Amino acid sequence: MNSFLEVRGVHKSFGSGDARVDVLKGIDLEFAEGETIALVGASGAGKSTLLHILGTLDRPSSGSVLFQGEDVFKTGDQGLASFRNRSIGFVFQFHHLLPEFTAVENVMMPLLISGGKRIEAAEVASQLLRDVGLGHRFSHRPGELSGGEQQRVAIARALVGSPQLLLADEPTGNLDMKTSDEIHGLLGEIHASRRLTMIIVTHNERLAGRMGRTIRLVDGRIGS
Ligand SMILES: Nc1ncnc2c1ncn2[C@@H]1O[C@H](COP(=O)(O)OP(=O)(O)OP(=O)(O)O)[C@@H](O)[C@H]1O
Ligand SMILES: [Mg+2]
Repeated sequence: MNSFLEVRGVHKSFGSGDARVDVLKGIDLEFAEGETIALVGASGAGKSTLLHILGTLDRPSSGSVLFQGEDVFKTGDQGLASFRNRSIGFVFQFHHLLPEFTAVENVMMPLLISGGKRIEAAEVASQLLRDVGLGHRFSHRPGELSGGEQQRVAIARALVGSPQLLLADEPTGNLDMKTSDEIHGLLGEIHASRRLTMIIVTHNERLAGRMGRTIRLVDGRIGS
């Protein structure tokens, strides 16, 4: 039986020669389907670098990532992009919403980009906005939303393609404690209803404590 997601001997370096920085120094991990994981560690330990590789946004220098037994980096950039669009949702610390579009348009965007029909995309996006508690904010632009609301829109957008894997990089790093707790609750609800696998990079111990397992990175290696 293959695990859902497996990282084998991943190294990642940036630059070359004297300027080379070895960031990931041999990472081996296995994730079961439906698991929730907190990825923690000091600033600079390599958390975002590892998350980007798990999300196929960046390739490892060596080693492999297996998704349901398949080596994802065997394919070219186009194959990788289509795999990513089908299977992975991302939430970042800064929401990266498009400022000139409304909440519902931002959530629809991934579906439109992958060729979906506008009317169907609007229906899916509207339902998702209701699911994240923003049924009353469809036509607000990001600048007209609070930080917590912006992050809810970003979460809805991450879910619009029904991904099997949700990756988040400090999703509440920019929010106050009360709003963070609300977002943590929302992530818990999403996991309960969708059973997707979640890997969340966080410096927030309360959020880490809600995850099923914590993995600590120490200077590019898995710590204890
Ligand atoms: N594109 C890049 N080019 C060169 N060095 C990089 C690049 N990306 C990351 N690094 C270096 O890799 C190291 C790890 O960075 P990374 O962003 O993965 O850390 P992190 O654990 O996410 O830290 P933080 O908690 O501050 O977000 C840092 O020393 C960083 O400077
Ligand atoms: Mg980071």
